[in-house]
Amino acid sequence: MPRVRIIASKNGPLLVEVDGKVKTALCRCGGSNNKPYCDGTHAKIGFKAEEKVAFEVE
Ligand code: FES
Repeated sequence: MPRVRIIASKNGPLLVEVDGKVKTALCRCGGSNNKPYCDGTHAKIGFKAEEKVAFEVE
C-alpha cells in the first residue's frame, strides 16, 4: 500500500505526496486562478503559514 501524506508547506500549498514524491500541489491561500491547484499566487500575495503534516496514511 502506498504511503500518502498531505503536507501544508511553509508559506505555500498543500503538497500531496505518494511514496515520497510530490504528485500535486493544492492551493491553501485562496488566491489561485487555477483552483484547486496552486498556481504560485501565494508568493505574490505574501501568504504566510507554518509547515506541518496535515494527513498521513501508510
Ligand atoms: S497556495 Fe499557491 S496559489 Fe494558493
